[in-house]
Amino acid sequence: MSNTAGDPGAQAHRHAAYVALLAALAGLMFGLDVGVISGAQQFIQREFAVSDRMLEHIVSSMMFGAAVGAACAGWLSGHFGRKRSLVFSAALFVAGSLACAVAWSPESLIAARIALGLAIGVAAFTAPLYLAEIAPEDKRGAMISTYQLMITIGIFVAFLSDLAFSYTESWRWMLGIIALPGALFLLGVLGLPESPRWLVLRGRSTDATTVLRKLRGDDAIATREVADIEAQLQTPQSGLRLFMENRNFRRSVGLGVLLQVVQQLTGINVVMYYAPRIFQDLGYATSAQMWFTAIVGLTNVLATFIAIGFVDRWGRRPILYAGFVVMAVGLGVVGTLMHAGMGTQAERLLAVAMLLVFVVGFAFSAGPLVWTLCSEIQPLKGRDFGIGVSTVTNWVGTFIVGATFLTLLNHFGHAQTFWLYAAFNAAFILFTWALVPETKGVTLEKIERNLMEGKPLRRIGQ
Ligand code: BGC
Repeated sequence: MSNTAGDPGAQAHRHAAYVALLAALAGLMFGLDVGVISGAQQFIQREFAVSDRMLEHIVSSMMFGAAVGAACAGWLSGHFGRKRSLVFSAALFVAGSLACAVAWSPESLIAARIALGLAIGVAAFTAPLYLAEIAPEDKRGAMISTYQLMITIGIFVAFLSDLAFSYTESWRWMLGIIALPGALFLLGVLGLPESPRWLVLRGRSTDATTVLRKLRGDDAIATREVADIEAQLQTPQSGLRLFMENRNFRRSVGLGVLLQVVQQLTGINVVMYYAPRIFQDLGYATSAQMWFTAIVGLTNVLATFIAIGFVDRWGRRPILYAGFVVMAVGLGVVGTLMHAGMGTQAERLLAVAMLLVFVVGFAFSAGPLVWTLCSEIQPLKGRDFGIGVSTVTNWVGTFIVGATFLTLLNHFGHAQTFWLYAAFNAAFILFTWALVPETKGVTLEKIERNLMEGKPLRRIGQ
């Protein structure tokens, strides 16, 4: 970046830090939203005297809201702009978490959690889109990893807060406290400029230049970037049309959907949303349940670093193979121990350890990699559409897993439920072999060319 106006270097640096902070906060909110309900469940169940079925509704209503939110986010952010969508979702997040805290009945809690879900669905789609549009090229990759890592940190922080409030059984505080980071996020996004790309899309190139001049601190760069965006927009992003007309694009969208279905059927959100319940069923008292859950959260954070460190060295496919093997073994052993009845303390501890092994397996593989692959495999012209469809699938999948876990436990038994998920993971080894491309070190252009030439999906990275 050349130095012409003021101190553009320092300004650009401040800007990058600010955008990174926003990325971090958006990921944190995502994670808080996921993590917050697990510790609150048993107290909610006691206070409202509800069945497991109703509890499932309370847990999964948020995921339902998020699926709807993600499905509407493309339209929202196209119509009102990225910034206003983010402001809307942050405000709804604050309102939703406060409404959860004051819920007076199971039904009102469900309504509040749907609102919270809508908020996170919109944010989960819009934040990465905004970041990709506004970040300088060389910062984009780092920003995506930050976002991923912050999701797991958000979950961990929510587990810690649940642990702290569990001593007083204050489930309302557990659910309400996340309004604070939400408010911080709201303040943060209010200070953001609108996305230059969206401004150009709306024919407001002069405004886009003004924004970019401030962001990059250099007139020439700003003018050039606006010209680049204008040129890019000559090839319009008509994802839906491309989807109807182009079989190859349908293949990549289908693969994105499958990848997210696979990610959810690993069973990770059984643990993220119901960990204390699992530990309760293993025979542990409340305080031990909460401590183990916090350890699950920490394990999830730490193992994500393995993926960040190795994904560009080992490649996607080997990491996925390893992950599915570890997950299948982890859950298989948990199921077997539950089948055997876990008579001794040692067996119970082994079950906890194997559940942690499962979390490690997910966090270094399918967790971050599915998101990475979902954005790498879509051709430029349909990228927003393709990523939108897979993001919605992620939440629909989470919803199905969250809405059925307790029913599975009660109808089929603990061992059978964990074996079922273990079997899914074993099957995903085959899925990886048959369909997942190796995209390590390949340019997106090359992947796109291979896809459009009709190469088999697993070979579009070669
Ligand atoms: C998944 C979420 C999950 C989280 C756990 C993400 O990659 O999409 O559904 O709760 O990982 O860390």
